[in-house]
Amino acid sequence: MSRFISPSILAADFGNLYEEMSKINKSNANWLHCDIMDGVFVPNISFGFPVVEFAARTSVKPLDVHLMIIEPEKYIDRFCKIGIDILTFHAEACRHIHRTIQQIKGNNVKAGIALNPHTPVDTLSDIIADLDLVLIMSVNPGFGGQSFIENTYNKIVKLKELISKRNSKALIEVDGGINITNAQMLYEKGADILVAGTSVFHTDDPIKAIDNILSA
Ligand code: DX5
Ligand code: ZN
Repeated sequence: MSRFISPSILAADFGNLYEEMSKINKSNANWLHCDIMDGVFVPNISFGFPVVEFAARTSVKPLDVHLMIIEPEKYIDRFCKIGIDILTFHAEACRHIHRTIQQIKGNNVKAGIALNPHTPVDTLSDIIADLDLVLIMSVNPGFGGQSFIENTYNKIVKLKELISKRNSKALIEVDGGINITNAQMLYEKGADILVAGTSVFHTDDPIKAIDNILSA
């Protein structure tokens, strides 16, 4: 089990993105999380290819890309060619999950599925062995700075059981409303990677905030 953090640049200052990236590069962060929103699957639009290309050029951390877009299969090859490391799409946004997982893996990128707060973990029972990662949303996707949903703890426990029952190697990532008050319990329940936006970038010292979550 790992104890990783993946800061989300959605909460960064986009007027000073190079400086923000430099802080993450100097920090103990394990990955860098990029949130792609289309204004259709979620009620917000974030950023697209140019920002992810900039992140790929400037980040020394592996890029963890979270697609909140419908029909993700249309854009997967293009994201993979940027030089990212993990690509996650939503189960609720994709008709052919198995095919889409194979498409990502065919690009030599690690494949993940994200689940909205209402989507049961069991929905993954016939695909879990093919996954490198499952991202449990602990807020409704679309915005940073929302409150953590407590039922997430139960979902982590159920997902861990499913992973071990099916001999899967999938890592568990949790995303939304994560801060120093819930990080310890999330790691203890079995989360491998915590995504944190507001609680890292909206502080005076993001490098310290990352360390605080990692040692929670
Ligand atoms: C929400 C995004 C999250 C978001 C997390 O839809 O998927 O990754 O950036 O932001 P905080 O940590 O502020 O909840
Ligand atoms: Zn995210």
